[in-house]
Amino acid sequence: MDRETLIAPSLLSADFARLADEAQRVADADWLHVDVMDAHFVPNLTLGLPVVEAIQRVSPIPLDCHLMIEAPERWAPGYAAAGARNVTVHAEACSGDPRAVARDLRAAGALAGLAIKPATPLEPYLEVLAEFDTLLVMTVEPGFGGQEFIADVLPKVRAARRLVETGHLRLFVEVDGGINDDTIEQAAEAGADVFVAGSAVYGADDPARAIAALRDRARAAAHR
Ligand code: DX5
Ligand code: ZN
Repeated sequence: MDRETLIAPSLLSADFARLADEAQRVADADWLHVDVMDAHFVPNLTLGLPVVEAIQRVSPIPLDCHLMIEAPERWAPGYAAAGARNVTVHAEACSGDPRAVARDLRAAGALAGLAIKPATPLEPYLEVLAEFDTLLVMTVEPGFGGQEFIADVLPKVRAARRLVETGHLRLFVEVDGGINDDTIEQAAEAGADVFVAGSAVYGADDPARAIAALRDRARAAAHR
């Protein structure tokens, strides 16, 4: 079965002093991944809504906002209202039923994403995922770029892909963390269709070539 392959460079590995230029450098990617960290849900602190609004104004491609923040119910809809294509909240950060956030995100015109950390199981969320558009399976502990891919989480990607293929869920299955030319093949073979890559794209001499290479490898592996 043919599925889409979306490459989403992560701005976390870009030069924060030149965000507009850095967005242009990855214009032939599919989504621009923006990591919002609040120094509470994760130890790191990055940027928030005013900066995302500014990136939205200059980005040549749709934004994929990954909110690593507490109280996502309160903040996530603002990112949808800012025009992000996809807004992902962490299941571990939701105090109530994550479906309420999904409804707010969709009502504000965005795709709704649910992220799970490496140690978070998929099963408890199977029902709520019916109201989401994206499942983000973290392939590193959230918080920092440049970490090593955790292959142990791939069974969750396989399980999600099976649920999509059998018609039980309609979701993008996104992976984030440690994605490079080698690991993208494992992730694609397991069933991921959206691939976040920070250091592998922005650390390359030619980001456009890195994106094309990642896309080719993911597509080839998805057909295996
Ligand atoms: C980590 C972030 C990732 C990060 C990935 O918490 O969610 O999006 O930028 O960076 P790499 O691709 O370098 O692992
Ligand atoms: Zn991310």
